[in-house]
Amino acid sequence: MADTHTFASDQQILGRADIDDLEAIMAIVNTDAAETIHAVKDNADAIFTWDYEKGQRPALNKLYEKAKTAQWNGETDLDWSIDVDPEQILAGLLGPNAAGPFQALSQRDDSPFKHFDEKDWSNLGVESMNWRLSQFMHGEQGALLCTAKIVETVPWIDAKYYASTQVMDEARHVEVFAKYLDSKLTGYYPINAHLKMLLDDIINDSRWDMTYLGMQIMVEGLALAAFGFMHMICEEPLLKQLLRYVMSDEARHVAFGVLSLKEYYAELSDAELRERQEFAFEAAVRMRDRFLQQEVWERMGIDTRKMVRMLLDVPPEDMIFQQMLFSKIVPNCKKLGLLDASGGWLRKRFEEIGVIQFEDWKDTGEEYLELDAVSQDRAAAAASA
Ligand SMILES: [Fe+2]
Ligand SMILES: [Fe+2]
Repeated sequence: MADTHTFASDQQILGRADIDDLEAIMAIVNTDAAETIHAVKDNADAIFTWDYEKGQRPALNKLYEKAKTAQWNGETDLDWSIDVDPEQILAGLLGPNAAGPFQALSQRDDSPFKHFDEKDWSNLGVESMNWRLSQFMHGEQGALLCTAKIVETVPWIDAKYYASTQVMDEARHVEVFAKYLDSKLTGYYPINAHLKMLLDDIINDSRWDMTYLGMQIMVEGLALAAFGFMHMICEEPLLKQLLRYVMSDEARHVAFGVLSLKEYYAELSDAELRERQEFAFEAAVRMRDRFLQQEVWERMGIDTRKMVRMLLDVPPEDMIFQQMLFSKIVPNCKKLGLLDASGGWLRKRFEEIGVIQFEDWKDTGEEYLELDAVSQDRAAAAASA
């Protein structure tokens, strides 16, 4: 009989035995960067429910009612007349050193940055920002597809109702990031190969809760943390407002994941939970790999292999932005019971990749109430009228 306590190996989960295997990471490439269409096999059944009783899941019903009144319009609620200076975004986001996180690496003898002047640092900052916003845009499209899929696959009417509002939110997010990149910056980067692989895996999975785990908990958990961090330090007014509105929606989306899976995971067997733990770990590693930003090094003519090796060697505690990205994911995984199921396997894996320190940060079940930008703006407008 198979040992039910055995986890799959890293080779099976990640396609490589060593998390930091440079060659295996570099072998994941985006082969159809020039194509405009990418098809993924969606293996799930579309589920009807004949149980229409609304509010059987009060927390989801509350979220749905909130979402109905929190819709905004990307065309009219954002001031697109603002002139954007990319250097201003950078000054705010990265501090006086345009490429802050990478600057520490310039001291090393073999560093590709060794002879960088001010202009080079500024270029790197602009490229990194374009790349980052482009990946968020692609991730938003992933969320659009995943949430449309959840409308079909989740068996609960309250969840179908809520998910339908998220589909609209995600359409708006893709729209505003595309418009910002296109009209205010210099266009966008193709999707990063690691992000693409993760989105494909999420959509490919036939189990409805895996869409939630991959998208609402992992990808959107990361996005919520990133948007929060970027919003806090951003000084460019249009991007700042855009991030504030998007974030206010994302907080609901992550709450949707936490509230739905909390109920569902309570009924799963240990073996089923182990598969969820493995998937959460796989997603975390793919997202870490994504932030090696290979496409930026390629575009800048920097030796990508050397650069990725250097970044893999940086201790996690020196990569503050990358670490902060996990500040929502880890507490939410804890709340869902994924950290400590099966002898704490996921806890150990999160320790290995240096993100476990966030476990007792606030989870995201209720945060959407504090971040509700639309209600705040309406209240402020009513008070000043
Ligand atoms: Fe979104
Ligand atoms: Fe979202």
